[in-house]
Amino acid sequence: MPSLQDRTPQSLLPLRAFADARGTLVAIEGERDLPFPIARVYYIVGLSGEARGFHAHRALDQLLVCVAGSCRLIVDDGIATHEHILDRPDRGLHVKPYQWREMRDFSADCVLLALASAAYNEADYIRDYPTFLAEVTARNGR
Ligand code: TYD
Repeated sequence: MPSLQDRTPQSLLPLRAFADARGTLVAIEGERDLPFPIARVYYIVGLSGEARGFHAHRALDQLLVCVAGSCRLIVDDGIATHEHILDRPDRGLHVKPYQWREMRDFSADCVLLALASAAYNEADYIRDYPTFLAEVTARNGR
């Protein structure tokens, strides 16, 4: 069984922000600010309003940061579902392996940045929810 701690909703990770009269610089280093190395960066812009995500990864760690605008991030570990509002460039959510994620309710100006622990690998994706539940249940020994 997963521990109670595993079921605790994750809190947003505060990022190192350097604010002065000129503006704010946010710095993120893999393995210093995050519990994983950064192997890949991608960002999503020009969002139409249609929800995205609808997958989990078997091995990938990611930090998701809304560097502009806002969105709703729904994370499901197969036991519980938690919703997070990403609306600050100095807060990110660490989305872990075997967490199903959906992103919705993008503001028109939303820029969603992702820092990922590995190169793109389609074989690492679980894009079918029943398969996700079956794999996560087997992993949890239930
Ligand atoms: P997709 O998985 O549909 O995005 P989302 O998780 O937001 O629903 O990815 C869109 C396209 O981008 C798809 O053809 C795969 C491609 N892609 C890459 O080539 N490299 C990447 O690092 C990522 C994340 C996606």
